Amino acid sequence: MGSRLPLFPEQGSALAGEVDTFYFFMLAVSAFFSVLIAGLVIYFAVRYRRRSENQRGEAIHGGMTLEIAWMVIPFFLTMIMFFWSAKLFVRISRPPDDAMEIYAVGKQWMWKLQHKEGQREINELHIPLGQAVRLKMTSEDVIHSFYVPVFRTKMDVLPGRYTTTWFKPTKTGKFHLFCAEYCGTKHSGMIGWVHVMEPNEYQAWLAGGAEEGTLATRGSKLFQDLACINCHRPDGKGRGPSLEGLFGDRIDLEDGEKAVVDEGYLRESILSPQARLAKGYPPIMPTFQGLVTEDQLLQLIEYIKNTEKKTKPGAAPAAKR
Ligand code: CUA
Repeated sequence: MGSRLPLFPEQGSALAGEVDTFYFFMLAVSAFFSVLIAGLVIYFAVRYRRRSENQRGEAIHGGMTLEIAWMVIPFFLTMIMFFWSAKLFVRISRPPDDAMEIYAVGKQWMWKLQHKEGQREINELHIPLGQAVRLKMTSEDVIHSFYVPVFRTKMDVLPGRYTTTWFKPTKTGKFHLFCAEYCGTKHSGMIGWVHVMEPNEYQAWLAGGAEEGTLATRGSKLFQDLACINCHRPDGKGRGPSLEGLFGDRIDLEDGEKAVVDEGYLRESILSPQARLAKGYPPIMPTFQGLVTEDQLLQLIEYIKNTEKKTKPGAAPAAKR
């Protein structure tokens, strides 16, 4: 309904309609009460104005019906807002299982995007129509915020950790991408375009160029170049744990805690290896802080994600996430 109003962005994602409906509900409730209260203030001021010098107001000691009404009606209205927005919030924060993943890195002042197939883009994002896309995002410097108005998507991008957002485009075309968090002199220039393409066009676009191979291939090369492979040997006989098929597992830590091997854990273990050390291994790994960029970290993570668990004979095959 919003797309017909001027100054209102069109709806370009599966959730946009619901976000707008909720927005207009809030707007309608606020407008109704603003008008009602302002109107009554003016009406009462005129109706009950002091008419002569020695006029005294009547003492009123309350009215139960009125008291109950102005407690119960706002209570139900706010509960509707609470449950509706909570439901929407959960849907917005949980990407569907079939979402394809794309990595985004924000830096002063650009967006860098990496597709698993190997394509890398700056301030442009090509995605297929009707396919849910999950963005795993981080920042190289300060806080940015990934904002695509037509998708009704806005998510902060933080240095030192990964945040996630997702959307399912429902319209082909070229849509604005903004940074929605003030991040320095050229914050206003940290903009780009999202290109939503027909799936076959997207496939054609993907096929054209990524000479350096997929992200996982590049990660694998880095894994050799940085000599990670010397300790993290696939056969498990190195000085560090084998990382084959480790992604998604719950592992024991040296301090007795447990950790799930996700993007955040892997990133931390590369930059601060001793922060959450895997049980049974000595604290000998050097930090790679300053030696790998955020893009390279994502490539390494993507490589580790893509390794297959070596199943021992007789063992049940590992469940992959
Ligand atoms: Cu990045 Cu504002």
